[in-house]
Amino acid sequence: MRTYLVTGGAGFIGSNYIHYMFKKYDNEIRIINVDVLTYAGNLENLRDVEGRDNYTFIKADICDRDAINKIFEENDIDRVVHFAAESHVDRSIVNPEVFVQTNVLGTATMLNAAKKAWELPDGSFKEGKKFLHVSTDEVYGSLDDDPNAYFYETTPYSPHSPYSASKASSDMLVKAYMDTYKFPANITNCSNNYGPYQFPEKLIPLIINNALAGKDLPVYGDGKNVRDWLYVEDHAKAIDMVQEKGRLFETYNVGGHNEKQNIEIVKTIIDILREELDDSDPRKEKLSYDLIKYVTDRKGHDRRYAIAPDKIKKEVGWEPETMFKEGIRKTIKWYFENTEWMEHVTSGDYEKYYSKMYDNR
Ligand code: NAD
Ligand code: TYD
Repeated sequence: MRTYLVTGGAGFIGSNYIHYMFKKYDNEIRIINVDVLTYAGNLENLRDVEGRDNYTFIKADICDRDAINKIFEENDIDRVVHFAAESHVDRSIVNPEVFVQTNVLGTATMLNAAKKAWELPDGSFKEGKKFLHVSTDEVYGSLDDDPNAYFYETTPYSPHSPYSASKASSDMLVKAYMDTYKFPANITNCSNNYGPYQFPEKLIPLIINNALAGKDLPVYGDGKNVRDWLYVEDHAKAIDMVQEKGRLFETYNVGGHNEKQNIEIVKTIIDILREELDDSDPRKEKLSYDLIKYVTDRKGHDRRYAIAPDKIKKEVGWEPETMFKEGIRKTIKWYFENTEWMEHVTSGDYEKYYSKMYDNR
């Protein structure tokens, strides 16, 4: 039975990936989820897999060398899928250091531990071992409004935010391990994800949550920044396909040609919520475009991201399955049906975070 070590599996994409993998492989695989449970990590995301014999959760920091080495010593790990990271651009602007700590040093710790466990005396690696580093398209910087410009795997790195700079550094480390040691790895650079279990600091769940509470819907700058949105399950599938069918040492961009201006996303959420809410629901009356509030722009705000997914399509055969119209409705319904989840993640420190980021903006 193949054993996966997933880091950051209690977060948004990691938990969706774990669900996807058990749905696909059921009892054919074993998953060990290592997560330190920051504000973004939530074991509630994994409630339905907790009882499985082939699932183990270990609370540990990816920067803790001894803890990570011990996991490799005690388990014959075949695959690493490395999600764990600080992931929010706005937080990175306020507090960059933790991004360097987790994203750069944490990745170095993971690489070293895997190398130590998998390397043979002659410097080659045990057969079949693979490390997948999950990264972002934000490492490529920002595109202008030219609709024919895209990020390719060959696009030079040009990160602007502390978040993207830390992810770019971690990508470079993985590349260095591949080049220097022939360490068996892949990198995926994916566009913005949306779907269930996303923490409401990111645009889509934040807008859904505020809209249902009748609160202002903060739109940064002119609202015309463009992001290329992908349904999270399609990302999970891409990661699995790259590990199974991709060429080792290669980078694959993941995205579905689904570019939208932020203002369009916000208006779509309002429209769909109004369709979904009963006329008798008091939340419906308050819900209109009047809630949209243009606020001070994000510092260094990247204008446009857009992925060219040609390589992953050609070499791996991956294509997104969920069209935005369907995915955004599914997502909204999920947040509707899981108000308890939202209440839990927005209790505690969330209000403090929200005031710090949005009051006086
Ligand atoms: P997230 O913030 O929802 O989850 C991150 C998870 O990592 C959390 O469970 C957290 O507890 C854990 N974690 C953080 N620091 C840790 C540490 N030091 N040790 C162990 N665990 C730690 O993030 P996400 O949106 O699920 O993103 C996952 C990965 O995918 C990240 O590497 C991110 O850069 C990348 N990515 C995200 C997107 C996106 O749109 N969200 C797009 C492309 C790539
Ligand atoms: P976000 O979800 O933070 O993802 P990223 O910055 O990694 O792309 O933001 C998506 C876009 O939405 C980005 O252009 C910033 C914008 N945005 C707002 O306009 N208002 C908000 O409250 C947030 C969180 C983001």
